[in-house]
Amino acid sequence: MTEPFPFARRTDWPATPNALTGALQKIRGENAAILDLTESNPTRCGFSYADDKSLMESLAVQENKAYRPEPHGHLKAREAISDDYKSKGIDVPPEKILLTASTSEAYSYLFRLLANPSDQILFPHPSYPLFSFLGDLNDCLMDTYPLRYDGSWRMDLKRIGDLMRDDTKAVVLVSPNNPTGSYVRAEELEELNFLCRQNNAALICDEVFADFTLEAKRYYPSLAGNKEVLTFVLGGISKTLGLPQMKLSWIVMNGPEELVRRANARLEIIADTYLSVNTPVQNALPGWLSRKKKIQAEILQRIRKNYDFLAQETGKTAGCELLLTEGGWYAVMKIPPQYSEEEWVLSFLEKDHVLVHPGYFFDFDTEAFIVISLLPEENIFRDGLARVFRRIAGGEL
Ligand SMILES: Cc1ncc(COP(=O)(O)O)c(C=O)c1O
Repeated sequence: MTEPFPFARRTDWPATPNALTGALQKIRGENAAILDLTESNPTRCGFSYADDKSLMESLAVQENKAYRPEPHGHLKAREAISDDYKSKGIDVPPEKILLTASTSEAYSYLFRLLANPSDQILFPHPSYPLFSFLGDLNDCLMDTYPLRYDGSWRMDLKRIGDLMRDDTKAVVLVSPNNPTGSYVRAEELEELNFLCRQNNAALICDEVFADFTLEAKRYYPSLAGNKEVLTFVLGGISKTLGLPQMKLSWIVMNGPEELVRRANARLEIIADTYLSVNTPVQNALPGWLSRKKKIQAEILQRIRKNYDFLAQETGKTAGCELLLTEGGWYAVMKIPPQYSEEEWVLSFLEKDHVLVHPGYFFDFDTEAFIVISLLPEENIFRDGLARVFRRIAGGEL
């Protein structure tokens, strides 16, 4: 029996693995090859940019011998980020950029800045599961607002309005969202600005996937230019440059000037307390960002090709529907509801050795959906999907 010990309640998470994790452990234990269609770690997806030696050589410079702690992060790194926004037509001065080690850390800083214990933060569903942990760790009450699908995804703005109350401190937007791939629309932003102004709440917009539009030449506006209410936009190189191992993200602040000044001063103290961003990545960032187009071209080619293949194959299988993805690295597919998501996904894994995410991981309102990463190499992607479609067409688990 385990000894009782008064750990903090915020870490009282269930310790037992779910059925899918258990099955995966068993198959991996048997050394069976799995076609992993959930793989979203770009360092494991066979991209050639990852072999570019010069990316790593940027870390071996004399400058890295010196430690110059700066709470906002090195000016040169922030200037490079500012230039990147400028290239998209958005004016973000380096003073309004603050570096963090990850986007999750950026969320934590912002929740700490905005919310007292048990204050409310709104975030979308479906969305990725990290939010509930971030809420627990920062003592926030996380409530969800729905994204609804009718050929494209839209935020339920009425529901957001109904959920907002005196202690609502922020509305989190993910644009494009993981896993729905939907961007915030201009008309949605207008209403969100109205609601936040009325309720004294801030907007936090996670734009880590913003550059990865599925349709070439399609442009979606960034909230980095939003001056209407206190707005924080999150970005980072884990997605923008496909370099998650390098751990560098940022917060861009915008909104009414005086409010931004006060938020910035407080964020500076939070960042100064941790100083978590390491020196070598900050020194390397300007050079890395100059290679952004080339890196993104390779990732974009992969996700667009995989999505097109998925669309073509979904059309051939009765009972399946590919939902519209506007951007990001994921696709959502509706599958026949004759079995539960868990039954389908366990069968794909145990019988076909293909791993996909069930929709319930992302808190979909109804069943049955699966979520597929668009990053895997084409042969793995195609082989894995062929097995999934064969099982669905056969109709038997
Ligand atoms: C929408 C979104 N934001 C942020 C992150 C985490 O990014 P980081 O590696 O910078 O913490 C993820 C991870 O998949 C994500 O899907």
